[in-house]
Order: sequence, then C-alpha cells, then structure tokens
Amino acid sequence: MDNLESILSENRVFSPSPEFSDRARIGSRAAFDALVAEAERDFEGFWARLAREFVTWDTPFTQTLDDSNAPFFKWFADGRLNVSVNCIDRHLPAKADKTAIIGESDDGTVTHISYQELHDRVAKFANALKAQGIEKGDRVVIYLPMIPDATVAMLACARIGAIHSVVFGGFSAEALRDRINDTEAKLVITADGNMRGGKKVTLKGQVDKALEHGCPSVETVIMLEHLGGVPTGTSSAKEMTWAEAVDGQPAECEPVMVEAEHPLFILYTSGSTGKPKGIVHSSGGYLVNAAMTCSWVFDLNDDDVYWCTADVGWITGHTYVTYGPLALGVTQVVFEGVPTYPDGGRFWDMVERHKVSVFYTAPTAIRALMKLGDEVPNKYDLSSLRLLGTVGEPINPEAWVWYHQVIGGGRCPITDTWWQTETGAHAIAPIPGAIDLVPGSCTLPLPGIMADVVDDHGKKVPTESGGNLVIKRPWPSMLRTIWGDDERFKRTYFPDNLPGYYLAGDSARRDQDGYIWIMGRIDDVINVSGHRLGTMEVESALVAHPDVAEAAVVGRPHDVKGESIVAFVVVKGDRPQGDAAEAMVKTLRDWVTEQIGPIAKPDDIRFGDNLPKTRSGKIMRRLLRGIAKGEPPEGDTSTLENPAILEQLMGND
Ligand code: PRX
Repeated sequence: MDNLESILSENRVFSPSPEFSDRARIGSRAAFDALVAEAERDFEGFWARLAREFVTWDTPFTQTLDDSNAPFFKWFADGRLNVSVNCIDRHLPAKADKTAIIGESDDGTVTHISYQELHDRVAKFANALKAQGIEKGDRVVIYLPMIPDATVAMLACARIGAIHSVVFGGFSAEALRDRINDTEAKLVITADGNMRGGKKVTLKGQVDKALEHGCPSVETVIMLEHLGGVPTGTSSAKEMTWAEAVDGQPAECEPVMVEAEHPLFILYTSGSTGKPKGIVHSSGGYLVNAAMTCSWVFDLNDDDVYWCTADVGWITGHTYVTYGPLALGVTQVVFEGVPTYPDGGRFWDMVERHKVSVFYTAPTAIRALMKLGDEVPNKYDLSSLRLLGTVGEPINPEAWVWYHQVIGGGRCPITDTWWQTETGAHAIAPIPGAIDLVPGSCTLPLPGIMADVVDDHGKKVPTESGGNLVIKRPWPSMLRTIWGDDERFKRTYFPDNLPGYYLAGDSARRDQDGYIWIMGRIDDVINVSGHRLGTMEVESALVAHPDVAEAAVVGRPHDVKGESIVAFVVVKGDRPQGDAAEAMVKTLRDWVTEQIGPIAKPDDIRFGDNLPKTRSGKIMRRLLRGIAKGEPPEGDTSTLENPAILEQLMGND
C-alpha cells in the first residue's frame, strides 16, 4: 500500500497478464475487436449465433429481432425453451455429482448441493407449486433469505412457466404488500426467518403483516421452516410448510416449454417517481446475456469456484447467482450471512476454505473491509482467486487498487461491471483477458451493446464531456416493459427527445480511449450501498406519517456506503427542538424502516419551519444537497421565496 499514492497519480493502466489471457475465453484485444466488428457488421447474426451457443432451445428460433413494435422489442420470438432445463437438466447426467451450490450459513454450516440434487429439489418444489394450482403465467412472490432454497424456488417457478417476483428479505411488510398487490401474486414463498450476523431476522411475521393489511390475490403461503418454526398466519390464505408442500412429490417434473418472450420474472426497482417499477424480463433473451456475460466477463470455466455475494433480492442475485452461473454449469458459493460476522475476515476465510477462484462483490463491501486494515485479509490464503469483479456503483480508485493488490495479490484482473436491473446483464465491462484496466472506469461496452454518451438531443458529446448514457440498439436481455404500465416504460426509457435510444438514467463521459466513466444518476435516484432508492419513495414514506407535513430527501456522499440519505422535514405544528427533535428523529427513522425497510432509513433528519422553494413552489434540491454536505449555499438563491430557511436548515439559528 506504500505506493498507493503513486499508483493513483500515475493513472496506471493494468494490462491483462499473459497467464490470464492465455487461458481466457477471449484472450486478446484483437479477439475482442473482432467481436465488436462482427456485431456491427451483422447485428442480428451476431446475437443469433450467441443465442444458439449459450442457450439450448426446445424449438429453435427462426427470427432474431422483431422491432416492428418498438420499443417493445422481441427477441428469438418463435423459439421455445425452458430456463430451468438450461440451468440444470442439460448438465445431466454428465455433471450429476458436480457441486452446483456450496451453501454456507451464518453460523458456518456448509452444505453441498450437486446438480442432480438441485434437479430433484427443483422438480419436487415445482410439483408442489402445481399442486397448489400454480400454472404458466401465474405470479409467485419469493421472500426468502440468501439461501440455496431461494434459487430452488426461482428455478421451480421457471420450470412450470410461473413468473417469480423476488422481494428482498430486508424490505418491510408494507413494501412486500405493495409488490404482492402489484403482481397480483397467487402464492408467496417465505421462511420463518434466518440468522444474519448472529441476529435473528423474521420473515414470516412480515408476510403475516402484509397479508393482514390486504393482499387479496394470495391463496397460498409456503413457509420454509429454516429456523424450525411453524406457520402462524391469521389471514385467509392457506398455509403450509415447505416440507408439507413437497411431501410425496416426485423428483421428476416435466418442464413447461415457454416462448422466448414469456416473462421469467418481475423485479421491482426504484425510479424518479414514488412507486417502484416492476421490471419485466424475458426467458430467452435474458438467459442469452446472463450466460454469455458469465462466460465472457467472468471467464467462468468448469473448474472455477465462483462466488457472487449479492442477495437474490436484487438483479445481481438473479443474473449472477441463479441464472448465469447455473446456465454454465459451474460450482458456486451461496452465503447467508454478512461480511463482518463473526469478524471482518469472513469473506476471506470463505475464499480460502472453498478455494474461490472468481469473486464478485460491491464497492461498498470492499470499502468497509478495506477500513479494517490489510492484516485481516493477509491472514488468509487467497491464492485460489484469479478474477475479481465489482458492481453497483462507481468504485473509487483507492478501493480498486486495494482490491487488486491486497485481495487479488496483484495478479487478478478486476472487472468493474456497469449494468442495471433493466439491462438484465452486464452491458459495459472489461473482458478480462482482452481489455486494459483503468481503476474507476468500467471500460468498454460489451460487443453487441451499442452504448454511447449523448446530449439531450441524442447527439454524441465530445470526448471527456459528460452526457446521457444511452444504448442505441436493443439487446436480448433488455427489460420488456414495466409490469402493468407500458406507458411508463416508454416514457422512462425511450423518451421522445432521444431517437429510439434506451436512456439508462446515468450520466457518463468517454475518455480519449473510448473508455466510459460513470458519473452518477441523472434522476432523483440515490445509491446507498449499491442499492437504488428513489428520493420520492422515501419522501412518500415520510409524509405518510401523521405528524409530517412535508419532506425532501437528498443523497450525501458517504465514504463506505457511497451515498447516505438526508431528510429535511417540516412537521405539523411547531418545529421540534432539543429532546423533542431527537425523539422525532427516532420515530421517523423507525417509521421509514417500517414503510420500506432498514436500507431506506435516513442517516440524518433535519427539521425546518419550511423548505427552500422557488416562488412557484418547487423545492430547490440543489440547495438541499449542498446543505446536506455542510456546504454553504452557492449559486443563485435569488429565486428563493424564503431565503432565511437556508440558515435554519444549516443549523445556524
Ligand atoms: O447508477 C448505476 C449504478 O447502479 C445503477 C443500477 O442499479 P440497479 O438497477 O439496482 O442494479 C445494480 C446492479 C446491477 C446504475 O444505473 N451502477 C451499477 N453498476 C455500476 C454503477 N455505477 C458505476 N459503476 C458500476 N459498475
């Protein structure tokens, strides 16, 4: 670490090592350039080739892209497949005994699930879902901890063509209820609870609460007795344990072949407006990019032990835990716990014990573990690692270099992968055997992903200038729509001012080498520990409290979380001060936790008599962002109706 400063100031380029490139799937810049050229020359032919290479089709497709109803693009539309067959059956019998999942629980218990066992468990559970009346197209909500059973549940849905919607276990009953109702799910799969960091987390209790508050579509709740609990719900839904549900079910289940465009899942994510959006993903196109990127960007091979630390509640856990790695038939680690329990060496201890070779995590985790000092990872043998990845937010060069030197021993390439819930899979990321790395840049778009940086009229911006990150042509794993809201899909992602381009919602710049540097969101979305949250979502939660009149929420830079949440609140009646203010802060933090979940809890809540507004009543967020950072208001404040409020919110009066 002594030379950290010099490395940063050198802006050093990290070229792929010959040892890595020699065995890599795509092992040179020339090979990469050839793929880019192929995609440019014959866009559809390129994707058709990959779709045949990475996916096993039950009925081969004859048409690659149907853009006749843009932006509702269709890919491989007359092809049929089953995603669970691609993730399991096609590896059998060859890999029957190969470990698919190494599950490690919070307390360190390890279980190995072979591909054959995975098959049997998925088939039994799929039969159990059928026995509860679940059919192709029905929605099933999965609210489970980060355990192999979550993957089993997802694949069981895929096997029978049911559409799953996984809700992150950290979301509250209210958030869960909203998602159940938006999808009109017939069945909910949950667990009694789980252990994280030595503490018990209740899940079933949240489901009970959600159902008590009204989820009329839910007919059945299946509860995994993970902690040995029994179902206790009082709603009218039928309740059973996982064991009861699968009891007597055969370990064979005929897969339902679905059209390529059949929705595989709905996953909710935050946007600019209040309500989270249900992002709809397809079966065929989604799987093509999931498998292809695991092969190209993670360079996964048969002998790799792969570990992605993301929870299945997020898109990363969908594409890079459940679908991509299993489609390639690799062995992966699934971890239920947290990186700091029983101590900050947990990740590195697991890398050593399971001989992890490819490791994928978020910058927030890297920064948190970096703070504990090099002596922690240095205690472990990390020599099995050969590739490291990051996702979710920009990684600062200091954390990048630490990850590279201290975790990767200077020998592992780092793939900084840019993508989104909406893109379904990596879109901009270095192909590790081919691309020179520069800390802080996600480097170049993948072949076939026509990403660019443009101004508000769709014109390419000059090198080094900031602009809108767009993708100019569709790609197989792109979102298909927002569940139940085609108009919002069009408005949000294909706005009229950009000619048919997908608008990512991020700003970015390109440097002279064409490398892309993500600058941040252009909308009111904040990124807390790699999790997307809409400021309006948190504001809506705050104003739903009976004592709150008005609220405005902004992000503030945070050295571990990336951004933290700061809320400016106007209460009904007098502005609370002293002890009353402290008590109100606690009340509101608890309230937001209940409304959304702990990830949305503001770090800082400030009370004002009102909020800084223009004369036309618009809240001036720019000023609030400055105040949140403790910076005196700069720029134009002349349009402000109530300038004195700035001093008050700064805490100066
Ligand atoms: O702002 C970008 C940021 O995360 C957003 C997508 O969030 P979500 O849909 O929750 O998916 C996260 C996991 C894919 C993007 O719009 N983001 C994601 N990856 C990166 C990133 N920002 C910078 N660098 C990245 N590698």
